[in-house]
Amino acid sequence: MLAVRESAWLYRTARGGREIVEIGSYRGKSCVLLAKGCQSAGGRVTAIDPHIVGRDNPRFEFDGEDRRTLLAAIERHGVKDRVNELVMTSRDAISRWDGRPIDLLWIDGDHSEAEAGFDIERWGAFVRPGGIMAAHDYGRFPGVNAAWDRLVTPARGWEPVAPVRTIVWATRR
Ligand SMILES: C[S@@+](CC[C@H](N)C(=O)[O-])C[C@H]1O[C@@H](n2cnc3c(N)ncnc32)[C@H](O)[C@@H]1O
Repeated sequence: MLAVRESAWLYRTARGGREIVEIGSYRGKSCVLLAKGCQSAGGRVTAIDPHIVGRDNPRFEFDGEDRRTLLAAIERHGVKDRVNELVMTSRDAISRWDGRPIDLLWIDGDHSEAEAGFDIERWGAFVRPGGIMAAHDYGRFPGVNAAWDRLVTPARGWEPVAPVRTIVWATRR
């Protein structure tokens, strides 16, 4: 699902990050890129995914096989000690977050406007000044477009930057 240019961007952007949160890990591609990227900085990735059948994308069914594949990928790439997995929705996970400032927030979970909006607004509130929030599939899912366009504006404390294919991103002022 991630294009090569998007993968390269994720890996590069994770460099130097110490606190990274991923919403929507699926089978681990972006999770491993983020974990590898932040390795030299001693960073860690909190990887959130309930691994239940998704309602956001009728083309895919997200299930237990995805989680097994994710865990195998984390192991194979030697990043187990950098990944903290939370098997739950981003809504459930937020009550577990202790308020630590986030360097990089990667949003690729439920693509409906309500849930993408929740991730942008509620999880985005933890991104530190100068930190980055990015969302995948802009231009592919109307819900992602609507939530991003509504919530990620200078008036709301975000500085949007030129997208990388379907990745939209912004820095926290
Ligand atoms: C498009 S896939 C993620 C792909 C992954 N980021 C990658 O690039 O390899 C979307 C994932 O979001 C998960 N998901 C769906 N709703 C979610 C929610 N409310 N919170 C967290 N993850 C969710 C699904 O289970 C699925 O695995």
